[in-house]
Amino acid sequence: MADARPFHWEYQPEHVPREVFRIEGGKPLGGNVPISGAKNAALKLLAAATLTGERCRFTNVPEIEDVRVMADTLRDLGVVVDHPEPNVYEVASGDVEWLFVPLEAAAKMRASFVLLGPLLARFGRVIISNPGGDRIGRRPVDLHVEAMRAMGAQIDYRNGYFFATAPGRLRGAEIRFPFVSVMGTENALLAATLADGHTVIRPAAQEPETDDLITFLRKMGANVERTYPDTIEVFGKRRLRGAEHNVIPDRIEAGTFIIAAAVTGGRVRLEGAPCDHLGAFLDVAGRAGVGLVCGNGTIDVDGSPLLAGGFRATDIETAPYPGLATDLQPPMCVLLSQADGTSRVHESIFEDRLEWLAELSKMGADVRLVDEHHASITGRSRLHGADVEIGDLRAGASLILAALAASGTTTIHGAHHVHRGYENIQTKFQDLGARIERQAEGTAVTSS
Ligand code: EPU
Repeated sequence: MADARPFHWEYQPEHVPREVFRIEGGKPLGGNVPISGAKNAALKLLAAATLTGERCRFTNVPEIEDVRVMADTLRDLGVVVDHPEPNVYEVASGDVEWLFVPLEAAAKMRASFVLLGPLLARFGRVIISNPGGDRIGRRPVDLHVEAMRAMGAQIDYRNGYFFATAPGRLRGAEIRFPFVSVMGTENALLAATLADGHTVIRPAAQEPETDDLITFLRKMGANVERTYPDTIEVFGKRRLRGAEHNVIPDRIEAGTFIIAAAVTGGRVRLEGAPCDHLGAFLDVAGRAGVGLVCGNGTIDVDGSPLLAGGFRATDIETAPYPGLATDLQPPMCVLLSQADGTSRVHESIFEDRLEWLAELSKMGADVRLVDEHHASITGRSRLHGADVEIGDLRAGASLILAALAASGTTTIHGAHHVHRGYENIQTKFQDLGARIERQAEGTAVTSS
C-alpha cells in the first residue's frame, strides 16, 4: 500500500516542472492525424473497474497525464493497475482495503471524485478529498453528494474531506438533478449498478462518454438502460464481472485538430474521428465556412476558405450534449477570430471559461468580454506571436492553435497543462508540418 498522507494540512503540492511551447506560426497544416481515445471516457472506465474484483482490460486508452494520475490513485487504494503496452490498461480491484482518495489526487484532477460512487457502492465506505481540477469556475460537487445521500449514504464533510458510509447496501432511488451534470450523472450511475433496487437518474448527461460508460457497465453485467434521451434507469446487481472495452475516440481532440487545420488554411484528414459525436460543432464550423467531409471513420478538413477571404462570423452557445461542448468553446473562439465580422459567444456551462480570451487578445484578437458568460469576437484579426500563459487544458490547446495561425513566434507558458489531456500533441502537430518545440522553462529546446 502506498504511503498516503491522510490529512490535507500535511499536503505539499507536488513540484510540476514548468514547460513552454515555442511555436513559429503562419504555416498551413497538411497530412493525416490519428485521433486518440477519449480522456473523459477513459477516466470513468478506470473508475468503473473498481466495481468488481475481476480483471478489466481497456484498449485505446490515451497516454495522458490525467490517466496516469487516475492509475496512480487506484494503485494507492491497493488496486492492481497494469500497463502492459501503450494505450492498454488492466485493472484488478480484488484487494482494496485503503478506502481513501487523498488531496494529492484530487488537487491534480477533478475526475478523481468519480471514485466516490463505485467505492461507496462496493465497499460501503470511502474518505475522498474535495476535488480541484481546472481553474474554470467554482465547480462544486454538491450534486454528486446529494445523489449518494438519496441512495442512503451518510456523508459528512470535515477538513476538506467527504467521509462517506453506506450502512448495508446503497438503495436505488429517484435522483432528480436541477440541471445536467456529466460526472454527477456518472457517479450516480456507477453507484446504482450495485445498489439494492431501481434507480432513475434525470436529467442524465447524454454525452457520448457517458454512453461509453454505460456500454462498459453492461458488459460487466449491470442492468442499465437509457430509457429516454435524458433518463437513465438502473436495476442494481449484487455483483459485477470483469470485462474488456475499447475506449471511444476523443471528440474534443478531434475538434481541436479541425480548428487547427482551418485557422492555418490547411488540409488535414482526421483518422479514427468520431463524426457522429461532433454534430453541433461541425454545424457551427460548417456555417463559419470550414470545409468538412465525414467519411468512414475520417473527417477531411479544408481550411482553404481562410486564404480565399476568411471565415464567416457565427454566434455560438455552449450547452450539454447534444449541444456545442464547452470544451470546444476555446478552439471555436480561435476560429471566430479568423471570421469576418462580429461573433457573439455565450459560455453557458462554466463561469471563468472565457477568461483565457485575455491571452488570445495579447496575440492580436479583437475580443470584448461582456460578463463571465458572454463575449464578442470581431475578425478577421491578423494574429501575431506573443508571450502567453496557459490557465487550463482546453484554453492551452487553443493558444497553440492561435500560435499556429499567427505570424512570428509565440511562447506559451504552462505547457504541462496540455499534457493532462492531449496525447503526443506536439508530435501530432509536428507530423502535420507545424513548427512547435517544447522546452523546460529557461532551458534548451527538446524535440518530443
Ligand atoms: N455543477 C454543480 N454541482 C455539481 C456538479 C456540477 O453546480 O455537483 C455545475 C458545474 O459547476 C457546472 C455544471 O454543473 O457549472 C456542469 O458541470 P458538469 O458536472 O457537467 O462538469 P463535470 O462533470 O465536472 C465534465 C468534463 C469537463 C466538461 C464538463 C461539461 C470530465 C472529467 N470532465 O466535467 O471536461 O467541461 O463535463 O461538459 O468528464 C475537460 O475535459 O477539459 C473538462 C473540463
